[in-house]
Amino acid sequence: MIALGSDHGGFLLKEAIKQHLEEQGYEVKDFGSYDENPVDYPTIAVPVAKAVISGECERAILCCGTGLGMSIAANKINGIRAACCSDCYSAQLTRTHNDANVLCLGGRVIGPGLAIMMADLFLTTKFVGGRHAHRLEMLKEIEATQDLKR
Ligand code: RB5
Repeated sequence: MIALGSDHGGFLLKEAIKQHLEEQGYEVKDFGSYDENPVDYPTIAVPVAKAVISGECERAILCCGTGLGMSIAANKINGIRAACCSDCYSAQLTRTHNDANVLCLGGRVIGPGLAIMMADLFLTTKFVGGRHAHRLEMLKEIEATQDLKR
């Protein structure tokens, strides 16, 4: 199950990705938005991120105007590794090296053709582990020691 979400700035891109993924046979859970009326991106990013952390959804794609607000909001949730990308190389490498579980895209930055290619790469590329796994452990350690009193 792939979670999708957008604000108004990413709505049309999210719709294009949704149509493509459904045509490819992916099961998709759409967390909105459902039209181009203004909505604050954290309202969408947080439930999408939580659906990934709970295991309800394997990965997520979030779209806003730039992809930036969505990535900042999603990365507030422990265990989320959200990557804001505008090119195929980054969309692929954030899987192989970062084991990213959320891809964030900008509806005012890239078009649907590129976004769909990036979504395909993001969803089909495996994490390579090895030296990169140790770095993910370091990220977990940061999350576990966020209390500044420690
Ligand atoms: C909304 O106007 C815009 O700020 C939002 O979609 C996003 O780009 C924020 O990062």
